[in-house]
Amino acid sequence: MLIGVGPPADGLEIIYFENFIMFYICSNCGFGSGSWIGKCPDCGGWNTLKEKPEFAKASSGKKGEAVKKITITSLSKIKSPTKSRLSTGIFEFDRVLGGGVVPGEVILLTGQPGIGKSTLVLQAFQNKKVLYISGEESAEQVKNRAERLSVNLDNLSFSADLQIESIIGSLEELKDEIEIVIIDSVQTIYSKDVEGPVAGVSQLKEVTKKIVNFAKQSNLPILLIGHINKEGDVAGPKTLEHFVDCVLEIEGEKISNFRLLRASKNRFGSVDEIGIFEMKQKGLSEVKNPLVFLETDKKLEPGKAIVGVAEGNRPFFFEIQTLCVPTSLMNPRRIVKGLDFNKVQLLLAVIKKNLNLPLDRFDIFVNVVGGVSIKSTGADLGFIASLISSFKNIALPANSLFVGEVGLLGEIRSSFLEEKIVEESKRLGFKKIYSSKLIKTVKDFAKQL
Ligand code: TYD
Ligand code: MG
Repeated sequence: MLIGVGPPADGLEIIYFENFIMFYICSNCGFGSGSWIGKCPDCGGWNTLKEKPEFAKASSGKKGEAVKKITITSLSKIKSPTKSRLSTGIFEFDRVLGGGVVPGEVILLTGQPGIGKSTLVLQAFQNKKVLYISGEESAEQVKNRAERLSVNLDNLSFSADLQIESIIGSLEELKDEIEIVIIDSVQTIYSKDVEGPVAGVSQLKEVTKKIVNFAKQSNLPILLIGHINKEGDVAGPKTLEHFVDCVLEIEGEKISNFRLLRASKNRFGSVDEIGIFEMKQKGLSEVKNPLVFLETDKKLEPGKAIVGVAEGNRPFFFEIQTLCVPTSLMNPRRIVKGLDFNKVQLLLAVIKKNLNLPLDRFDIFVNVVGGVSIKSTGADLGFIASLISSFKNIALPANSLFVGEVGLLGEIRSSFLEEKIVEESKRLGFKKIYSSKLIKTVKDFAKQL
């Protein structure tokens, strides 16, 4: 017997089995279970499973439907969309979207509170006809911010009505006068057709479904702003991310002014591209310099390494800091920010095996400066360099740069766009570049430092 089903795959509905008398759904991630469990096995939330008897009945909805032949159409006969992409007016934003917004596209923009989501959307689409629906701020607050950002208010309309059925009803009439709808935030919108608290699983699902259906049928693009929870996931059911076409996140730390815009899902473009912004007095401004995340002098101290990685099709340079301190703990601490935790664990095992360092007796803390996370594997060698440097308490050579992926056997491999990164780093004044061209194994690498 099936006792639980997870969130549905892209665009698919969960299948509920008829013999369920009671069904329990996690209010955090949408995980379903046939019996009550104290801790959600999917998202780890405690006491989040709520009784949903109606789900058991839901499966009988289409029972008895007649079986008929499916309609098949040749794609060559389908008319290509005539409308072109809508530019956001911000080059970096367009790049992440894959060249602008596609007609009927639904975009989910997420990020920590105060990171700049509302600011970015207000600055974008400045010369487009925008309907801004906000349940977060009043018309005065939105106007205030728009004036501060010197946004042209002529094309900006506002509404604070939050019932999705009314919103869609009005949009049906207004759709030819509007180029894009912005909803800030999706967690404040509710549907009259389902019960449950606003921002709860059933409400959010219904709201998003209606938004997506409307966008597809009207070809009007809709941008949803979504909250994220403490763990960094979009608040509410994870299924929200499956319904939309594109999921964007603004990363960064409130103490640093740099912001990184990244797509984690994009049906109409690549998920590799990133956009970089700086938060200034008058909002976000685009940054083109690949060295933004570094301090101006490239002097190195123990534990600090500069890595060159490709994010999208552009080289970027980041600073990795590692701190190794002796510990008496049975399980030494491993705290990692900005790199993938599992990858760091894997590299620690590679170092232990190849370099014989007694890492078990050290707590290890790793951080990428600027509050950004590096997704590229090209940072592996730089992390190892920073670890060795902290462990031995000696600074790495001045003006040095590390580029390369490290395999499980301790081999150093060339990373994506390595040649381009090396070329760019020479232009920027890095003198000593450690890469797979120079060294082939971690053992040889350690000898050279
Ligand atoms: P906001 O867009 O309201 O964040 P979010 O919608 O993600 O919650 O941004 C709020 C922060 O941005 C706030 O701390 C102030 C800062 N900010 C500036 O530094 N300059 C500006 O011009 C604006 C509008 C905001
Ligand atoms: Mg906001």
